[in-house]
Amino acid sequence: MRISIVHQPIQAVTADVLIVNLFEGVKAPAGATNAIDTALNGALRRAFDLGDFRGRLNETAVFYSEERIAALRVLVVGLGPIAEFTIDRARQASGTAMRRARDLGCKRVATIVHGAGSGGIDPQAAAQATIEGALLGAYQFREHKANPENGRQIDEIFIAEFDTAKLDAIRAGVDAGVIMADAINDARRLVNLAPNYLNPVTLADEFTAMAARVGLRCEVLDEQRIRAENMGAVLGVAQGSHVPPRFIVFEHAPAGHENDAPLVFIGKGVTFDTGGYSIKTADGMLTMKGDMAGAAAVSGAMQALAGLKLPMRVIGLTPLVENMIHGGAMRPGDVLTSRSGLTIEVVNTDAEGRLILADALDYARQFAPRAVVDIATLTSLASSAMGENMAACVLDNDDDLRSALLRASDAAGERIWPMPLWPDYADKIKSDVAELKNTGGARGGLGSSAIFLKRFVDGVPGAASYPWAHIDMAGMAFWSETRGYSPRGASGFGVRTLVQLTRIL
Ligand code: BES
Ligand code: ZN
Ligand code: ZN
Repeated sequence: MRISIVHQPIQAVTADVLIVNLFEGVKAPAGATNAIDTALNGALRRAFDLGDFRGRLNETAVFYSEERIAALRVLVVGLGPIAEFTIDRARQASGTAMRRARDLGCKRVATIVHGAGSGGIDPQAAAQATIEGALLGAYQFREHKANPENGRQIDEIFIAEFDTAKLDAIRAGVDAGVIMADAINDARRLVNLAPNYLNPVTLADEFTAMAARVGLRCEVLDEQRIRAENMGAVLGVAQGSHVPPRFIVFEHAPAGHENDAPLVFIGKGVTFDTGGYSIKTADGMLTMKGDMAGAAAVSGAMQALAGLKLPMRVIGLTPLVENMIHGGAMRPGDVLTSRSGLTIEVVNTDAEGRLILADALDYARQFAPRAVVDIATLTSLASSAMGENMAACVLDNDDDLRSALLRASDAAGERIWPMPLWPDYADKIKSDVAELKNTGGARGGLGSSAIFLKRFVDGVPGAASYPWAHIDMAGMAFWSETRGYSPRGASGFGVRTLVQLTRIL
């Protein structure tokens, strides 16, 4: 898709459709929307006065310009009430409008920047949100179709801006928006790919190729290296699959920042989770190709950081395994020796995410990190507690890191909510035969999953701990309904929050 900025009076912009916007409850359109309304003889205002179009968020209406302006059609999208306007609403409206334009069969789509006028958002941020929304909203996963190129597609997007003073800011915003949207859509693609195409080995190949493309360091630890690292928890999960595990170490360290104490991101990369011998139900397995969504979020964030050339050192770790069953698979009751030296009694083979994260959290210690954030589709309890597609949860050992993360998630338009991590949860994961067991049962399972992880953040006595936050994004890997810039399917959740966190931490 080609993207360009056109510096022309809005009436002169040539396109199959021109997207403008309207706030709910505003009597008269302003700015570019007003100019178009005037050129169309008040058609927009008439629709508004008749109550056919009210400007509700993501509401759309199409008008035909009958050669009064250069664009063939005008698509008005609602931004909702001005008092409730946020940058994420600009993103949503843009996504909705792009999809509508695509469904109309438009190939060349022009849009104004949403939110920079009466919305009061600075032009760069508004342009970024507009292009992010457009590219995210128009995303389609067609790779497994017999004819991926079939179907309606937008070829070209024009950002229309007549104010010369805003052009530089808009260009910067568009460039950043393209980088973000590409990173998020690439993360979505990995989550959408069928699990017979995406396994630990092919996912590692995808990561290597991405890193080469954007200029990230990317080291792939194969099974032998994983064994040499004593990652017994990763190996325990991987041993039931014909496909060996991989452990990826991304590093973004721009010149002058090579020796900074890094921020470390860790993403759960279970390319398919059958549950192992503690097997899931048929229904429970249905979305388990998405059990690597945490790893996709981390790779997406690393990709964006490299593209944006953000001036700080960030490391991304993703343990990649497939939780399968064969004669060599781990059994309930098996005891694994983790990288940290702590032994783990596996009482439930379906609690595999925390096992691979345990080794990654321990591996992170060698970097003397400024902070570590892990993101994982860890427990169905997170989505039971918050609601499917409602929010992710965060549990942590550091108030400052948590509050930075919550601000980042707010700015990113990705909902994350704090849950408690009381020390008492530790009682639930005491084991009779090992240092700890891998589940504390269903009740209080969010707290006991996080207190399990915390044992590896703290390590063995004398080891150096670090500020840490755990994001449980179960229930957020896939959108079940199309809305705003989020088509049904893989969400790409987490990429924007992680990138935003690096900006504010
Ligand atoms: N990958 C699942 C969690 C999950 C479930 C994510 C549904 C998204 C949607 C995880 O590995 C798992 O199976 N967790 C168990 C933990 C239990 C055995 C303590 C769960 O949530 O039931
Ligand atoms: Zn599981
Ligand atoms: Zn899992």
